[in-house]
Order: sequence, then structure tokens, then C-alpha cells
Amino acid sequence: MAFHTVGNYTFQWTDLHLPREKTDPLRHEYDTLGHDAVKKLQQIAREMKGDASVKPTLCPGGFDMYAVLRDHHAEDETLGKLWREVHTVPDWVDWEQIERGQKFFYRYAGANMVGFLLQAFFGENSSAAGVIEVLMRTGGFSPRVLIRRLLETFQHLLQVTSSLESIQPGGQGHTTTIRVRLLHSAVRERILRLAETRPDYFDTATYGVPVNILDSIHSISTYSCNPMWLQLPQMGVFPTEQEKADYIALFRYVGYLLATPDEYFASVPQAKATMESLLLHERSVTDNSLIIGHNLLETVKDMAPFHISVGFIEAGSRVLNGDALCDSLGLGRPGMLAYACWRGHCWFVRVLALLQKWVPGVDEACVQYFRRTLYDAIVNSRQGLGGVSKMDFKYVPAMGKMTNKEGSGRALFAGSFLERPVEMFYLAVFVLGCLFWLGITSVGLTALNMLGMYLG
Ligand code: HEM
Repeated sequence: MAFHTVGNYTFQWTDLHLPREKTDPLRHEYDTLGHDAVKKLQQIAREMKGDASVKPTLCPGGFDMYAVLRDHHAEDETLGKLWREVHTVPDWVDWEQIERGQKFFYRYAGANMVGFLLQAFFGENSSAAGVIEVLMRTGGFSPRVLIRRLLETFQHLLQVTSSLESIQPGGQGHTTTIRVRLLHSAVRERILRLAETRPDYFDTATYGVPVNILDSIHSISTYSCNPMWLQLPQMGVFPTEQEKADYIALFRYVGYLLATPDEYFASVPQAKATMESLLLHERSVTDNSLIIGHNLLETVKDMAPFHISVGFIEAGSRVLNGDALCDSLGLGRPGMLAYACWRGHCWFVRVLALLQKWVPGVDEACVQYFRRTLYDAIVNSRQGLGGVSKMDFKYVPAMGKMTNKEGSGRALFAGSFLERPVEMFYLAVFVLGCLFWLGITSVGLTALNMLGMYLG
């Protein structure tokens, strides 16, 4: 069967892959239960505020949707159905496997976080046209709020991986995932309602329904499959078959909670084929991709305390996403120093992964360390979210509101390379690595010389 190359990645089409005839119609399907439930929740919220007679307003936010669902699911058929669905654990869920999957994120935390930011967000998200159309309208990708938006995404990722209890029904990760499902439905409902008054507001014929089933499958694939084949191996870290199966199983369950059909992630080969099919069908850079990509770069570059340079981001993005995609997203071509730092990063995560494989104590220590520190830094600290986010519906689409290319609003970073601690560290790793290879090469050459003299 045919081979395909997308960016730096080549794969062979198999019977498990999804032809366009199968994926395209999924653009017009969506989470109807979540959609109906959000409408019901809005009605209950209005009744609670005492304005039941007022016709539905265009602003559906402003109340805690999850709390209303939790408190009223027994009184309403739709809410009851949704509540039962998310509290029913499918029989394919194996909690021991899910627990192993959760550790995967922390085991390779450095590689996973860099991969998520540079490949999943920068490459995959920016070039998923339907997703971008929605994000352009919410304003969540405006640099003024984007850092909080990114931290909230990481909060969800940390909560679904923090402990088994957290992802089990009633746990924090489980609850946040339901909040996200309601948030998605509220965004969709809002955009569709605006499109009813002005059909040219959102092109459903081309992009499908906002936050549709195909986009959701794509997102779950980005979360769970991209680290295995598009991110970690490019940094020299090679997940085992067991690790792939475990992490994909975790996100198959997260996807189930988010109304994403789970059969596309039922096995490792099927999940890989799903990822590859969508890589081939869905990658499309539009003018709006350039805006989202620009805003992402503006937000992340030079941010305290790490002051990561634009060059390092460009070098990593180019290695992970390929030059063609990065060129079309308007990314610059960085110099040798940036690539040396990137190489240092790859060598560091590779050596750490090998150490973890050989010394189980190191593995456990890494998992525990990153579990504790990442949650504290991203969720609890004042530089992070400053407390758990409830994923409120705050980036509300409105007629005439569109995200534009913007600067971060921060003062320009005028520090030198010495004030970029991460890159300094990676450069040191790179230099040490080079010296190590030089040492090995010269020992090898000396040995060969001696052998030659002995034989000659
Ligand atoms: C199925 C896998 C997905 C996961 C795990 C996921 C995760 C999340 C999380 C954690 C948030 C909360 C972040 C925040 O509000 O700041 C969020 C919000 C949001 N998501 Fe998703 N998402 C998924 C799919 C999608 C898809 C397919 C779309 C399509 C466009 C989408 C669009 C949005 C939007 C518009 C928001 C509201 C915040 C904003 O305007 O940026 N998500 N998602």
C-alpha cells in the first residue's frame, strides 16, 4: 500500500487508516447530548435568576454549569442522561492500565511538555483549519489571555494524570473534564446561535459544526498519539509498546468523557492509523493559522522566568513539524546556536530516559518530582493560575469579535543569552556531549592506530 510523507514523518497506508469519505462526514456530527444539556442548564440558570419569562439571551455564560448539572440532574431527563453517561465506566477501562498511562506524562515530562507546546499547539493546532476558526472567534488565543488559556490546558492535563482517584468518577480530573465538555458545548451553542442571525458568521459548510466530532478525534489523537510518533522519537526518546498502549488508553477514556468516539483509539495500531489519517487529511494552513501561530509565539517567547528565545522555539518547531509547515506559518530560520541548544535538550531528555530505564529508583523519583512540582508551579503558584481554574465560559464569541495578530504587551526582553537559564543549561549539555563524542572518537582512533601498528 502507498507511502505518505507529511512534514518529517512518513507512514504506510493500511486497512486501519481512515479514508476521507469516512472522516469528512464526522465534521457535521457533534455532541448532541452535551449541546441539549447546556441549553437546559442555561434555562435553569435563568429560572434561578428569576427571569424565566425573558427569551434566551445571547450570552449563555456567567454561571457554574457543572454545579447546576450536579444539583439538578435528578430533575431533568437530558441532564440525568448526561450525568449517567459520564459516571458510567465503560467495560474496556482497565484502571491499572490508566494508572500506568498517567505516569507516562511525568516520566518524560521535559520531552512531553516541549512536544506539546511546539508540536501539538504550534504545529498541529495552528494548522487544523476548523479548530482555528473556532479559536479565532472566542478570543482565547489573544496574547493578553493566551498564557492563562495555556496554563488551563496544562491544568487539565495535570489533573487527569495526577492520580487514579482524580480521573475516576467524582475525582478532580473527572470533574474538570466534564466542565470542559460543557464549555465546548457552550462555545458551540453560542457560535451556532450567532450564525443563525448572520449565516456568514461561521462557515459550517466548510468547517462543519464548531467543536465537531472530527475535530475532537483529532484533538484526542494530538494529545495521546503525537507524543509517541511525532514528538518524543524526534528528541531521542522511544516509548515502549506498553507505554503507548497505556497512555492511549488513558486518553481513550478522557475522550469518552468528552463525547469523542472511542473506537478510533481501541488499540495502538488503530490509534496510530487515526493519527496518520488526520495528519494527511486535516493539515491546512490558512491566514488564520498565521494569526494563531504568531500570537502563540509572541506569548511564549522571552517569558519569565525561563526567557526562552524565539530561536530555540523556531529550531524545535522546525525539527518537530518540518521546515515546510514552519515556513508556511511564517516562522524564521534560527542560527546554529539555537540548534545547538535544541540538540542539548534532546541529548538531555534522551540520557535521562535511558537512566530511568536502567535505574527504576530514578524513574520513580522523576515521576514523583514532576507530579508535585508541575502542579504547584502551574496551578497553585501566583506566577501560574494562582489556584484551580473552573474552566468558566469567559472567552465568549460575539459578532465582530475576531482574534488579530497582537504583541504580548510585555516589555521587550533586553537580557543577554546568559539570562536564558534553560538554553544555557542545554548549551552546556551540548558542549559536554560533543566533548564526550570527541573523547570516544579519539580513543577509538588511537586504538585503531595501535592495532594497525601491531598488525603492520
Ligand atoms: C477532545 C479533546 C479536547 C480536549 C482534551 C480539550 C481541552 C480543553 C481544555 C482543557 C479547555 C479549557 C481551557 C480554557 O478554557 O482556558 C478547553 C477549552 C476550549 N476548547 Fe478544547 N479540548 C479538546 C477539543 C477541542 C476541540 C476539537 C475544539 C475545537 C475548536 C476545542 C475548542 C475549545 C475552545 C473554543 C475552548 C474555550 C477556550 C477558548 O476559547 O480558547 N477543544 N479545551
